[in-house]
Amino acid sequence: MTVPEITLNDGHSIPQLGFGLFRVDVDETQRIAELAIEAGYRHFDDAKIYGNEEGLGRAIAASGLPREDFFITTKLWQDDQGREAPHRAIDASLERLGLDYVDLYLIHWPHPSDGLAADTWLAFEEIRDAGRARSIGVSNFREVDLAELARRSSTVPAVNQIELHPRFQQRPLRAEQEGRGIRTEAWGPLGHGRYAAGELPEVVAIGEAHGVSGAQVVLRWLLQEGVIVFPKSSTAARIRENFDVFGFELSDAELATIRGLDDGTRVGRDPAEN
Ligand SMILES: NC(=O)c1ccc[n+]([C@@H]2O[C@H](COP(=O)([O-])OP(=O)(O)OC[C@H]3O[C@@H](n4cnc5c(N)ncnc54)[C@H](OP(=O)(O)O)[C@@H]3O)[C@@H](O)[C@H]2O)c1
Repeated sequence: MTVPEITLNDGHSIPQLGFGLFRVDVDETQRIAELAIEAGYRHFDDAKIYGNEEGLGRAIAASGLPREDFFITTKLWQDDQGREAPHRAIDASLERLGLDYVDLYLIHWPHPSDGLAADTWLAFEEIRDAGRARSIGVSNFREVDLAELARRSSTVPAVNQIELHPRFQQRPLRAEQEGRGIRTEAWGPLGHGRYAAGELPEVVAIGEAHGVSGAQVVLRWLLQEGVIVFPKSSTAARIRENFDVFGFELSDAELATIRGLDDGTRVGRDPAEN
């Protein structure tokens, strides 16, 4: 199965489907990352705050595959924001991952209350220039946060990773960022463990028409919308199922049905409130 690649605004490319590692302990991370690699995933989405970078690093090392076969993202946590701290933070993440560089380094939250994100971004440019991150981007940024970065720097983030699932589709923010050349990454695509997006009746019905699960329909919908997505699962069968989303195509009417499911339900933190 070949995963489509998306070209970012800096010329690097990213596999559109990957694997997420939120809320998985470090040993479990090694186990499920190894299952995911076996299933075909090469793109992994991690973060310092998940506390499991060592587990991912061990799985990569154990795979015996060349480093360049992987696309590895990690994220800088709030307490490392600022002009200097990000340099120490990326070094520590790379050490835990056992890597010389990450493919994508993200500011995890804009954290508007301390106003440091634009300073952090200047450090991110240096981290990229030093070759410790191939691409740099942001996560949970609102229009106002993106505008502030643009005021301070000419480097446009490669991606903005945002909460995005059938009940919370963030269309105005996506239009705004894509207009700036920023690709959208979806977090919590299947409902973030708060609701089962694949069990929404309209989604189940579409799945039945294609002989696939509701979760596969949701992932396929995001892929057809051009979004980068990395579901998390600790279950071997679901890990394989979530990768098996290239053998069917949703019609325009089916895509429109899923678009109609947005009822503004945010299931994660609101970036304005931290
Ligand atoms: N930037 C941020 O602030 C941020 C925030 C949250 C997440 N993320 C990233 O986005 C990734 C994905 O989001 P997420 O982990 O929050 O949630 P998610 O992928 O939407 O949902 C994970 C939940 O869905 C279940 N699941 C997975 N595959 C399934 C299937 N085929 N059928 C039914 N249920 C299924 C999982 O259960 P099982 O494990 O039992 O299968 C788990 O409970 C994260 O892992 C992380 O890398 C980023």
